[in-house]
Amino acid sequence: MRIGIFDSGIGGLTVLKSIIKKHPNHQYYYFGDTANLPYGEKTKDQLLEFSDKIINFLMSKEVDLIIIACGTISSNLYDEIKNRYNINIIDIISPTINHLNNSEFKNIGIIATTMTINSKVFEDKLKKSVITQPCPAFVPLIENNLLDTFEFDKYLDEYLINFKGKIDTLVLGCTHYPLIKDQVKKYLGDMYLVDMGEVIANQLTLQNEDNFKIELYFSKVDNKLIKNVHNIIGNYEIIEKEL
Ligand code: DGL
Repeated sequence: MRIGIFDSGIGGLTVLKSIIKKHPNHQYYYFGDTANLPYGEKTKDQLLEFSDKIINFLMSKEVDLIIIACGTISSNLYDEIKNRYNINIIDIISPTINHLNNSEFKNIGIIATTMTINSKVFEDKLKKSVITQPCPAFVPLIENNLLDTFEFDKYLDEYLINFKGKIDTLVLGCTHYPLIKDQVKKYLGDMYLVDMGEVIANQLTLQNEDNFKIELYFSKVDNKLIKNVHNIIGNYEIIEKEL
């Protein structure tokens, strides 16, 4: 199957990686819109314009399925996007909500971008006690490889301190956040961290095939991005593609 996956940058690669692990023999086309990130601080109109260009690009690759590997677009625009195109499109938030509603976990913390938190999707759809926290500084720090800095530690404390002792589960509600899983775990101690890429990979049912391929496109490429991509997914070629 030909599968298109997109996000604002490297975050969606955490989703791609989980999906490939579970469903290795398919053809994957990834688009990271690095020229326009962070998505979490944009308007809905801007995000609609970006996602329209990306979806059309992925459709030009003749994909059979598109996965929105972005919490921000999934939570704000999925209803608008899903019926606009003549292709099956799935989002990343609905599988996470189904997964949690069918679990025993009771007290759920959510960290995500400002737009995702403001959409109130988790409060509206999760039948659980929910505490939310927008974390706007995380995506730029992750994309710029600034995790070993005082600034990152400062934001980690600022964003997570309120969860201490109050939750049994933390949803990494932005697909960039699995890249800081270790730091979050160290700060909050042992608890269930929900990685939306793993959740969707477990829920996807795909026919077995034996033809693997991966094509990686980003709207802006520099050395830092190449290093990050190779660290996350392996040494595949990276193609710069302005839309
Ligand atoms: N990784 C995306 C998300 O899941 C976008 C983050 C951003 O660019 O702000 O929300």
